[in-house]
Amino acid sequence: MSNSEKKRLLTGDRPTGKLHLGHYVGSLKYRVALQDTYECFLIIADLHTLTTKPDKESILQIRENTRENVLDYLATGIDPKKTTIYLQSEIPAAYEMNLFFEMLVSLNRLSGLPSLKEMARNAHISDDMIPFGLIGYPVLQSADILMFKPHLVPVGKDNEAHIELTRDIARRFNLYYGDFFPLPEILPIQTPTLVGTDNKGKMSKSAGNCIFLSDDAKTVEKKVAGMYTDPNRIHAHIPGTVEGNPTFIYHDVFNDQKDEVADLKTRYQEGTIGDVDVKKSLAAALNRFLNPFRERRALFEKEKGLVEEIVYEGTLKVKEITDKNLKEMKSLMGLRGHWEKISRVARERKKDAEIPT
Ligand code: TRP
Repeated sequence: MSNSEKKRLLTGDRPTGKLHLGHYVGSLKYRVALQDTYECFLIIADLHTLTTKPDKESILQIRENTRENVLDYLATGIDPKKTTIYLQSEIPAAYEMNLFFEMLVSLNRLSGLPSLKEMARNAHISDDMIPFGLIGYPVLQSADILMFKPHLVPVGKDNEAHIELTRDIARRFNLYYGDFFPLPEILPIQTPTLVGTDNKGKMSKSAGNCIFLSDDAKTVEKKVAGMYTDPNRIHAHIPGTVEGNPTFIYHDVFNDQKDEVADLKTRYQEGTIGDVDVKKSLAAALNRFLNPFRERRALFEKEKGLVEEIVYEGTLKVKEITDKNLKEMKSLMGLRGHWEKISRVARERKKDAEIPT
């Protein structure tokens, strides 16, 4: 299937730093799989990072983070021929659409979204100091999405309400100005959240309980050695709990040798194997899993300027698509007609005509 016959799909992340195993099982894996069926766009949502971190130091950090993220995408199999990777802040159409969409949604609707409160909490922003821009986060996301007129948006649970809002905005727009935006369907994706190495919650950078996709083999061994397991097991001969034990959760998800996993579980429950051995084979399994990513990453890293070229070309392509959609949108709204009339009449006026005094 050629790209133009495929349905359009948009995914993406805020560039907040290296991606980890949780990102892989929660989204990257699906993005890689969807590339063959859909025309995919992947947004590096740098403007969205400003909603909680607008200071210059954070803005400068986006450069490094973007590069790391793109390398992670490429390493895990995102193919730039199938997926257009682009930088949000270079797409003015998003800013403009954002403004129009702001008129089509109530403050009440936005401030009721639990996702925004959670983002504020994570960024240590108290309720009375939530920036206007953070309240507008899902509106900007709606612009990111609708400017492509996509058919589908794959979402995890945390972003589902934002897509509902996107659909409402599209519906409202169509009602006011005429049918323009297809209502993007939610592509339901089972995003399992992976528990962190400390078993305290999901794997996340801020919690410091991550195994990064770019970690080297030694780092993985060290992190696995320090993982939380069954705390009651002070000796290897005490029967252990497999259920909910993060080392076994990881074995189930990442270890390709299923017989080994079954055997480890039995012996763990019998008390005939120590945690050290369970962890050793887990580290080995994770390194087997990560090795192909490491190899691909090294290839892309070696080619000087390649990451930049991919983002550059992708952004130019998106600019073209979205400029066209924005123009049509403004025409439909009656905004462009006004300016066109002013400029036509202005040009028609004889340049040497008198200005009345
Ligand atoms: N909100 C997404 C996140 O949680 C990032 C994002 C911004 C996005 N715009 C998007 C995702 C458009 C999909 C489509 O990081």
